[in-house]
This record gives sequence, structure tokens and C-alpha cells, in this order.
Amino acid sequence: MADNTARDLAVDLPDLQAYWMPFTGNRMFKSNPRLIARAKGMHCFTSDGKKLLDAVAGLWCCNAGHCHPRIVEAIQKQAETLDYSMAFQLGHPTVFELANRLTEIAPEGIDYAFFVNSGSEAVDTALKMALAFHRLRGEGARTRLIGRARGYHGVGFGGISVGGISPNRKMFGAQLPGVDHLPHTHDLEHNAWSRGLPAWGAHLADELENIVALHDASTIAAVIVEPIAGSAGVLLPPQGYLARIREICDRHGILLIFDEVITAFGRAGDAFAASRFGVTPDLITVAKGLTSGAVPMGAVLAAGDIYDTFMTGPDAAIEFFHGYTYSGHPLAAAAGCATLDVYREEGLFERARDLGKTFEDALHSLKGEPHVIDVRNLGLIGAVELDPLAGQPTARAMNAFRRCFDDGVIIRTTGDTLAFSPPLIIEESQIEEVVECVRGALRASR
Ligand SMILES: Cc1ncc(COP(=O)(O)O)c(C=O)c1O
Repeated sequence: MADNTARDLAVDLPDLQAYWMPFTGNRMFKSNPRLIARAKGMHCFTSDGKKLLDAVAGLWCCNAGHCHPRIVEAIQKQAETLDYSMAFQLGHPTVFELANRLTEIAPEGIDYAFFVNSGSEAVDTALKMALAFHRLRGEGARTRLIGRARGYHGVGFGGISVGGISPNRKMFGAQLPGVDHLPHTHDLEHNAWSRGLPAWGAHLADELENIVALHDASTIAAVIVEPIAGSAGVLLPPQGYLARIREICDRHGILLIFDEVITAFGRAGDAFAASRFGVTPDLITVAKGLTSGAVPMGAVLAAGDIYDTFMTGPDAAIEFFHGYTYSGHPLAAAAGCATLDVYREEGLFERARDLGKTFEDALHSLKGEPHVIDVRNLGLIGAVELDPLAGQPTARAMNAFRRCFDDGVIIRTTGDTLAFSPPLIIEESQIEEVVECVRGALRASR
């Protein structure tokens, strides 16, 4: 869309009163609203026609760019053909196709896909699968779940229980019992200015041995981690760390779940971060990039032996008492198939890997700018951490967010970290545009 048409497409501001917005300062937003009315490719357009370069792919999800014609067409066609079919005891062709297509690109041994509607549902589903798996194998005492400090696994009760972000937990009571947490791996003293995986920190995986020693392996069902922690500020796993976690889980019969809601579908320069890092978990949770954000959908991808363990008992019996009305919704499944086509035909996973170095150099050029205390990156995910304003945590990053928005670029903040996860179609010149906009915002800040 050309710049001069954007203003022609401006829409009137609606009454903002009734909508209770998620993860948003409602009063602040409503006093200074920022409404996105349209999007195309790398750009979003506000309701008053302002053009913005999207450096976050919506919310880490529009990996193929906004409103990709191929995906739009697939959704339109599906809506005309089959709007919905019962998700339990009936199926429709597109969802089976999507399951096959996903398991083709998943790491070897990950052979099944269970569909849900979001990352949060994927996480809760994976945790339930892990618990039921052990029970079916006669190890029903394995009920403990191990997460990690600074982990984000969505907002279901399972997800916040294993998650490690205190504001997401503290208001909501006791949560799941029998949960423990690994320490996170973010340590600026050792890991600041890492390009790719930090060299320091693999030993932090050994804390899992201490947790096992405390609770006994016979009580632990699963460990869940994000291969790259996204929402807590893009924390890259130290070299060797994930392999060590895998090894300890194997030694003790504990399932390993990778939460790849952000990292799957090219973000880390491969179909899955598991593939990029050469470590295969037992269960992988995905969402976001699965449909390039166009229709809500998530999935749990499961190893063959997990599925096989459930496939016992009488043939007519339901093996897993779990599912959602909209599991494998036809519109989402059609969007998913078209999205996978786009990723393959446009070579977007390879593109993310190839652009990784340019992205890295551009982000690291911000070292030395006001308040920057760390830059870190891999593939097309990166972060710039800022020194917090005294007594006002998050304010400095929010100021940068607002300034960038005013100057035409959408970035994301988490705490005092600026996070970047552009659509995988980003051009080199647009990477430059993002970084120069951030540089300007930092130089303008107090
Ligand atoms: C790693 C991870 N898991 C789970 C979720 C939750 O996904 P959703 O917001 O679709 O429920 C997110 C969302 O950002 C995420 O980053």
C-alpha cells in the first residue's frame, strides 16, 4: 500500500469504553489510544492512517508478514466451504493434512499433532499429556512439573504455575501443587553482548540434578522450558545447556517439553529451535507462527512413543479426555496449511538464518548508545536491554516504545528490555530503519 493511500483508508475512532484490554494499562491506553486498522507485509497502519514498520511481527506471530495473499485466500475459501465441523468424533480433511505437514518438518521422532487454539492451551495440554503418559505407564506418582524462573508459558493455571514471571503469578492464588523451578540463565556479568548462544552458563542445567535429588525422580513428570525465553526478554540458552537438560531428563525418565510458541516457524533460523540446537524434546508446544497469526491456533507436537502409550485399552475408548470445541478449526487449519506453503516456497526459515548476521550486526551497533547495557540475538530474534530509570522500572523501555511508535516503528518491551522479532520477510534496509529509529529514541531519552 503506498503511503498516500494510507491516509485515505483512515477509520473513525470507536468508543473505547467497554473493551477491557489484555496485558495493557487500560487507562493509559484509552487516554492516548494507538489503534491499528490495517496491515500489509511489513507494515501496519493506524486508524488515522499513520504507517508503521512492524519489528515484532504483530506479537511474535506474523512470520510471513501481514495479510499474505496466499493465506488470506485460503481462509476465504475455507470459510465458504466448511465453516465448522464437530471437533470430537468427527474430523475434516484440512486438519489431517496440517498434522501431516507439521510432523514432516518437525524433528525426527515427533510424529503427532494435537490442535488447540493458543499457546496457553498448548502448554496446559502438554502438561496434561505428560501427567497422563506417566500414569498410563504405571508411574502415577510422577506428578511434579518443573519450570524455570523468568519462563513464560501463557496464562492458563498450568502455564502460570510452571511460568516464572512474578506479576503473572502473584495475584492468582496457590496454583498447581508440586511445581518447582530451575534458575534462569541470564547473567550480564558473564553473558552480556552475546552474539548467538552465550558461552557461559551450561552448568546451570545441573540445578535440575539438585531438584531431582530433592524430590526424587519418581515424583517428577516433566520439565518445561522455552529454548529461547521470549517474553522475559529474549534469553538465549548457553551453549550446551539444552543438551544437558535433555541428558538429565533421560537419565531420570522425565519428559522434556520445549515451549516453542515463539521460537518455532523460522524465528531461530530453522523450522524449530529444537532443530537449530540439535536437541529433541518429547513434546513441543507451538502457536503464533503456525498460522502466521492470521487465525488463532496452537498445537502440541508429540513423540511417537507418547502417542503410542495412549493408544491402549478398547479400540472404541477415548484415549485422552481433553480437547476444545475449536481444536483444529477449519479456518485455522486452512490458514496453517497455506502458511506452511508460504514458508517453504519463499524459503523463509532459511531467510531468517541468512539474515541473522545482518540483524546481529545492526542490533549490536547500538552498544554504546545511552542506557544500553546488553544486546543479544539469534536468527531473527533479538533484544536490547536498558538500564532502568531509578525507581521507575519499565519506564525507560516504555518511553523508547512510544518514541519509536511516533517515529514509525513498532517494537516490543518486556521489563526494561526492547525486543525485536520482525516478520521473516524483512529487508536489510528495513532492519537498518528499525535500528536507526531505536538509536534516535535512545539518544532522545533521559
Ligand atoms: C513461550 C510462550 N508460551 C506460551 C505463550 C502463550 O501463548 P498465547 O498468548 O497464544 O496463549 C506465549 C505467548 O507469548 C509464549 O511466548
